[in-house]
Amino acid sequence: NLDRLGKREPEIYGRATLADLERALRAEFEARVRLEFFQSNHEGALIDRIAAWADAKVDGLVLNGGALTHTSVALRDALAGAKLPAVEVHLSNLYQREEFRHRSLTAPLCLGVITGLGFEGYHAAVRFLLQRG
Ligand code: DQA
Repeated sequence: NLDRLGKREPEIYGRATLADLERALRAEFEARVRLEFFQSNHEGALIDRIAAWADAKVDGLVLNGGALTHTSVALRDALAGAKLPAVEVHLSNLYQREEFRHRSLTAPLCLGVITGLGFEGYHAAVRFLLQRG
């Protein structure tokens, strides 16, 4: 549902859009690193993309799995198979929200998790992956 940013529950996710996020990340990082973005509301499309990035040996992954974070064994297995350095990001603070959001199936496959910092979480995740090398 992240394509709905800006329209979807703005009291939780804010008024900025996914295009705004992409623009801000490109502005900060594009001189230093090639960024690729992918959003889908379809679990299988996300899994295929993670596998393609693994085959392409990308240097790192910033993942916001949205609600699939809490439910998808398939997404978890895709990450486990990819063996990519990954950081999980959530715009909202999962621990201030419903209990079903407190569990992440994908977090154990990630180097770390950033939750509740809004767009800054994505910036921090890319910065971390860059300085880690
Ligand atoms: C989210 C949190 C999830 O629980 C929710 O289903 C989302 C967005 C976040 O970025 O805060 O879709 O991943």
